[in-house]
Amino acid sequence: MAQVFINGARDEPNVREFDGLDSSIQELIHAATEARKLAYCPYSNFAVGAALRTSDGTIYTGCNIENGAYATTICAERTAAVKAVSEGKRDFVACAVVAQQDNGFTTPCGVCRQFLSEFVNGQDIPLYAAKPSNLPLRVLCTSVLQLLPNGFSFSNGK
Ligand code: THU
Repeated sequence: MAQVFINGARDEPNVREFDGLDSSIQELIHAATEARKLAYCPYSNFAVGAALRTSDGTIYTGCNIENGAYATTICAERTAAVKAVSEGKRDFVACAVVAQQDNGFTTPCGVCRQFLSEFVNGQDIPLYAAKPSNLPLRVLCTSVLQLLPNGFSFSNGK
């Protein structure tokens, strides 16, 4: 069987078949896949879609939106999060990220890990990273806190 690499590291135990996941997770991955089609990424040509589910069941989607002043770019994960938070929803129960990288799964960048960790409130947020095609679809099942161990939280400073 082919090895699966995540950011350069072998991580087979956390990779599952899409078909075996809960339908709510499958739906979230589908939503991220659709959102990815709206990515505005003329500089990198690297399209990313994200979807966040809140505790009331609502799904908020996002794509990456790039800018000629590169640093102004916003990632798909933060696009989805700012849509939700700005509509009064920040109790995230799951996150999906979809992008196409041949050598592994796309997981949130450091800024997005920190951004999402702000909304981990008691419970961790499961995070599912998948590719837009590649059947049978395999999914990296991780979480925001697994991706950002020992991250900064403002309460640490009080
Ligand atoms: N990007 C995301 O939107 N999410 C990720 O998880 C990784 C990176 C975007 C930012 C930029 O538009 C492009 O991908 C290349 O870095």
